[in-house]
Parts: sequence; C-alpha cells; structure tokens
Amino acid sequence: MNAAIRAAVRCGTDLGLEMIGIRRGFDGLIEGDSLPLDNRAVGGIIERGGTILRTARSAAFLTPEGQKRALKQIRRHSLDGLIVIGGNGSLRGARWLCEHGVKAVGIPASIDNDIPRTTMAMGVDTALNTVVESLNRIRDTAISHGRAFVVEVMGRKSGYIALMGGLAGGAEVVLIPEVPLSLDEIATTVADGLRRGKRHSIIVVAEGFSPTDRPLDGELSGHAVAAHLEEFGTIETRLTILGHVQRGGSPTAFDRILASRLAAAAVSWLARGETGVFAGLDRDKVVPVPLAAMDEKPENVDLDLYRLISVLAH
Ligand code: F6P
Repeated sequence: MNAAIRAAVRCGTDLGLEMIGIRRGFDGLIEGDSLPLDNRAVGGIIERGGTILRTARSAAFLTPEGQKRALKQIRRHSLDGLIVIGGNGSLRGARWLCEHGVKAVGIPASIDNDIPRTTMAMGVDTALNTVVESLNRIRDTAISHGRAFVVEVMGRKSGYIALMGGLAGGAEVVLIPEVPLSLDEIATTVADGLRRGKRHSIIVVAEGFSPTDRPLDGELSGHAVAAHLEEFGTIETRLTILGHVQRGGSPTAFDRILASRLAAAAVSWLARGETGVFAGLDRDKVVPVPLAAMDEKPENVDLDLYRLISVLAH
C-alpha cells in the first residue's frame, strides 16, 4: 500500500494536483482526518509493509449516519477525486461513493486475490512468498522427523493463497473452501502418500476450509484437520498457523511494481475525469474495471491447478 501511496502522490503532483491523504480509511474520511501529502512526505516508504496512512475495517461507514458524514467531509475538504486502496469492502465503499456523486477510483489490495476481473491484487505476491518461505522452513522439520505438518494460511472465503502457496511450496494436500472434502478423505490421501514411500507430508489448509463430514463452527480449520490426522494415527502430526505473518513485511519487487503501475493509472484516470472504476490487471495489462463488477464472483481459483497439486504430490 505504501508503494501505491507514494506513486499516487508523485504522479498526482507531476500533473499539478494537490494531494491529500486520508488516515484510517473510511473511519478517517468520516472524521475528516487528513493530511497534505507532497513528494517528500512519501519518501523512504516503498520498502515498508502496511500503510503510513493506517487503515480500519470501518463499521461506521456501513451506517447511513456514517455515510452521510463521509459525503459531508468530502464536500467540506473540496476533494475533487478519491483513490480508494483496499479489498472487497473498500472497493464496495468506493462504488457507493460514486453512486452518490463522488469521483472515485479503486486500487485492489487484498492478499486473498479475490477481486473480480483482476489477475493480481496488490499484496498477494508478498504474502505468497512468505507462505512459501514458511513452508520451506517447516519442511526441514517434516523431513527430519518424518512428520505431517498442517499449515493453516489466510483466506476466510478464498482458497487462493492456500492453492498457490501449496503449489509453489510443494504441498502434498491443499484444502480450500472452494473444494469440498471430508476429514477421512484427507487422512486417506496422506496415508496413500506414505504407502507410496513418502515419509513426510505438508497439508496446506485455508482458514475458510470446512470438512464436509464435520462442518466447523468457530473451530480453526487447521486444528480440525491436524486433530483428525493425529486420531487417524498413520503419522505424527503438527500444526502451524501462519496468521498475520502473511500480511506484513517488505513488499516483493512484483508488488512494488504492480502498486506503482496501478496507482499511476488510477491518478491519470481520475485526472481526466474518469470515475466508477478500479485499476485491474488483465494478465499484464492495467485496465479500468467498473466498480459494479464487485457484484461478480471472483474467478481466482483455478481448479486445474488444484488437480495438478495431487499429481505433483506423487
Ligand atoms: O481480507 C483478507 C484477510 O487476510 C482474510 O484472508 C483474513 O481472514 C482476514 O483478512 C483477517 O482479517 P483481520 O486482520 O481483520 O482479522
């Protein structure tokens, strides 16, 4: 996000625009919490994770009162245009603002990579690299001790990180919300691997996965899978939950370049009066996608790749 803020500010000033940052997302917008951003204010941040503007999952912006106050602040500060950086909630918020007369352009940032019609959102590559690095480290113990490791990754509704992280990290099994599977099927797959001579196993599970034979109610998906494998008894099993480790850290080169490109496009569109779109990536091309596309189902999980993982696990 910092790389995008830096690029937005510098592209904006290059066009002679006055740039203002809103702190704490929609909460800050509602409260009028803003600061002027010039080129120097965004120096030395391209390598930093998170966002210098800080952020919030704003409950207030979901209320009519909060929405009214946000519109009032936009008018009070005479904002000509708004760049909204974030995931599903943020881009839906941007859409709402557009529908109420605000000129807004979105930039998708979500490690879940679940934004419709965009190949890659910002942050995904960095998160994936963290997952792969973690799997590499975990595999050292898995191999040395001959154990199974259940590694729970983020993705409440989306299996993208689990799928791509598992593929890149050489996982034996990947469990995602998009593909139904029972605990017994999982245990049998692990046992089959051992019968084929494998001595360890890496099972990557998305936090949103729920086994068909024991739908989860609040319990962590990783816990449920690891506990069942232990019960099944074929292999000693350990659980690692990667959690928010996946959402921080210095962004990869890919993410910095992507952030810079998306922000540059967003600023140029806003400057020439385009609104109601977000900067999507169509393969390698930055394209405007209507914010209305946020109603569509994301097609981010490639089931062919899911099948490939079981072949590669042989
Ligand atoms: O929205 C992306 C996401 O990373 C999900 O995969 C994860 O479940 C969630 O955020 C965690 O959010 P929070 O930090 O608010 O607990």
